[in-house]
Amino acid sequence: MALIALAADKGAPGVTTAAVALGAVWPRPVLVAECDQAGGDLVYRLPAATEDGGSTMLNPSRGLLSLAATARRGLRPEQIAEHCQRLVGGLDVLVGLTNAEQAQGMTWLWGPLGRAFAGLSPVDVLADCGRLGAETPLLDLIREADMVVLLCRATLEQVAHLRERVNALAKKLPGGPPIGIVVLADPRDFRGTVAEVDRIVASSALPATVLGGFALDPKGAEMLRGRWGGRLDRSLLIRSAREVAAGLVDRLADQPRGPRPAERPAASAPGPAPGPAAGPAAGQSPWPPGVPRPDEREPLTRRHDAAQVRERGR
Ligand SMILES: Nc1ncnc2c1ncn2[C@@H]1O[C@H](COP(=O)(O)OP(=O)(O)OP(=O)(O)O)[C@@H](O)[C@H]1O
Ligand SMILES: [Mg+2]
Repeated sequence: MALIALAADKGAPGVTTAAVALGAVWPRPVLVAECDQAGGDLVYRLPAATEDGGSTMLNPSRGLLSLAATARRGLRPEQIAEHCQRLVGGLDVLVGLTNAEQAQGMTWLWGPLGRAFAGLSPVDVLADCGRLGAETPLLDLIREADMVVLLCRATLEQVAHLRERVNALAKKLPGGPPIGIVVLADPRDFRGTVAEVDRIVASSALPATVLGGFALDPKGAEMLRGRWGGRLDRSLLIRSAREVAAGLVDRLADQPRGPRPAERPAASAPGPAPGPAAGPAAGQSPWPPGVPRPDEREPLTRRHDAAQVRERGR
């Protein structure tokens, strides 16, 4: 299904928070994949669901790192599921690398990973690509995406850097995915702020479209960092995420797709010749049974056990 690459230029505008918020309200089966080269944050933020309905810490060794170990022999979409974990509330995540050093040896991974994500059916993938500098190897993943969504706060410097990044991306990925922009906007002048960035984008003739805004909502963002309590589903952040998610899904439905995943070249990595397949047998569903559809998920309002928050922080 669709691969959406979420990223930023400079600063930390809230890409990881946006990925989780979008994942929580995404109207189709979805996987949030942490592909940030600087290392992932989810293990420090959010609890994994246990089979008995409880919660535990996300396992940092099961995710991109374990997937990369098997992907050296070639990566197929069916191999992804066994490296995913489920958060309390039902959202599936692929936990990212531990640190930037790990990413240095994995520049070969991003292209095959992007192709495998794009071929993951019936699941959409929201890939948290972190901050995009020049010549980032993540371009190989972004090339496979159906849409790139750049986030920025509505400050002069973030909008200026975003403008540079959009132009650089469009040059590096000619014929690549469309570029969308989501503005982190103060709820007191939400529509006005988004419209102002839209005007700047239009007047600069940037090859990008402003898709909408995420509310700057510190309370909602804190809840998405594991400090549960309160009504997250009613927070401004989640309400704005619903609007962005619906707009994105509509756009994805409207826009003509690139080559079907089956027509794309097989995903492979440098290294030894392909060995025996590690994932489920051909023809088997690539996703474990019971992926909760969004309407089956528990609302993200569960109070998180303070002891576990402390444990994760160790
Ligand atoms: N919509 C929001 N409203 C208010 N605060 C937010 C919002 N989104 C994120 N934040 C806060 O901003 C900080 C950075 O958020 P986050 O980790 O999501 O950013 P990031 O862009 O992924 O950063 P990095 O590039 O370091 O991974 C966090 O303290 C988070 O709580
Ligand atoms: Mg992040």
